[in-house]
Amino acid sequence: MVAGARAPRVHLWQVGCQMNTADTEALAEQFAEIGLWPGAALEDADLAVLVTCAVRQHAEDKAAGRLGELAKWKLARPGRAIALTGCMAAEHGGTLFARFPQLDYVFDVRDADGFMARLRDLYGGAVEGPVPLPAGDRLSAYVPVIHGCNEMCTYCIVPFVRGRERSRGVQEVVAQVGRLVEGGVVEVTLLGQNVNSYHDPNTGTDLAGLMAAVDGVPGLRRQRFLTSHPRNASAALLAAIRELPTACEHLHLPVQSGSDSCLRRMKREYTLREYRLVLDDARRVVPEIALSTDIIVGFCGETEAEFEGTMSLLREVEFDTVHVQAYSPRPGTAAHRRPDDVPPAEKKARLQAVLSLQRQISERRNRSLLGRTVEVLVEGRGAEDGRPYGRTRQNRVTWLERAAIPGSVVHATVIDATAWQLTAA
Ligand code: SAH
Ligand code: SF4
Ligand code: F3S
Repeated sequence: MVAGARAPRVHLWQVGCQMNTADTEALAEQFAEIGLWPGAALEDADLAVLVTCAVRQHAEDKAAGRLGELAKWKLARPGRAIALTGCMAAEHGGTLFARFPQLDYVFDVRDADGFMARLRDLYGGAVEGPVPLPAGDRLSAYVPVIHGCNEMCTYCIVPFVRGRERSRGVQEVVAQVGRLVEGGVVEVTLLGQNVNSYHDPNTGTDLAGLMAAVDGVPGLRRQRFLTSHPRNASAALLAAIRELPTACEHLHLPVQSGSDSCLRRMKREYTLREYRLVLDDARRVVPEIALSTDIIVGFCGETEAEFEGTMSLLREVEFDTVHVQAYSPRPGTAAHRRPDDVPPAEKKARLQAVLSLQRQISERRNRSLLGRTVEVLVEGRGAEDGRPYGRTRQNRVTWLERAAIPGSVVHATVIDATAWQLTAA
């Protein structure tokens, strides 16, 4: 591989969840440490790295499509190479080389030392030492606090590709948040596939305790956490949201289905009654809390009546936002052994029904804020008109009709609202 006199350049491409975003950022730092420049555009790059997702077939298809484009990119200049990591690497491993002959490396994102050592040998003389990364202008950062998942939801591949739960220590997390804040970050999102099963490996401190420790980091303005499992919802967590000044009033609590029979087939380990009680508690303890959820439509055997259960749950709860996906069978999961028997057209119709119902609900909820004061963390300015925008504590995107500096926290009155965003002045 010929890289010339300059540091070899890496182009990072990513799909999937927030955990992949955090992994991609950590990879960029590892590349910089060994002397590779990780911020390259594809056309300037010597090495392309794909950080992949396997949660639905669509995510895998995106990576396959990208690999198709990269085959041409690789041929256009000698010495170029392609590496794949992330959840498809964990799922398919070395079998990917037969499917994608253009691929040079497949590596484990959690154990990248061996891969980094190979790159160091390969680029040899072209590598002069750590490449300084430009000071980030990042205001928000993702901080993984627990890896893996011990649940076994029957549709889900995550436990297979991410392994068993492993929590990081409170001190380690607090130290990382401290470094991020020194670098200009004012908001962190504590991450885990099942974040509310977090426990410090030594002291047993739970997520509420971790949040209290993170709250003590001077200079931090906001903290959030993703993704909670309904069966680990605790009174202590709701109390933490209410009490801690940095804790934002937002709970993302995936329900997946509004039918008990479907939830049983999904092995979600809670009933709708229990789920509703958690939401009732959340709204009682933190009245201004925003609630969001994930829904799967067209799961194996989902009847018209079961789907109607989901629609009526959405009408009853009135979530602020809903992420909906059509069921996608994943090889190796328990549900893969059941027939995927809801026809594609029906899945699509159910998906559209959820989207259109939720659009009305989100719009109504946002419009109920007209005239109210919201706290906005200003994140940037619109590319076209330079208007400042940011998010409220409830995570609503808000455009400001007045001057405000990114990084500042302002209070503004809501003057307009759609299903997707607020305007405040
Ligand atoms: N740990 C989180 C997120 C898991 S993956 C949780 O428990 O909710 C993110 C979302 O993808 C899930 O909430 C689910 O709605 C969706 N999902 C997971 N597997 C899926 C599959 N096989 N088909 C369709 N959607 C799926
Ligand atoms: Fe998947 Fe269920 Fe674990 Fe979420 S809780 S990652 S849906 S197995
Ligand atoms: Fe996808 Fe892996 Fe996240 S499968 S959703 S990138 S944990």
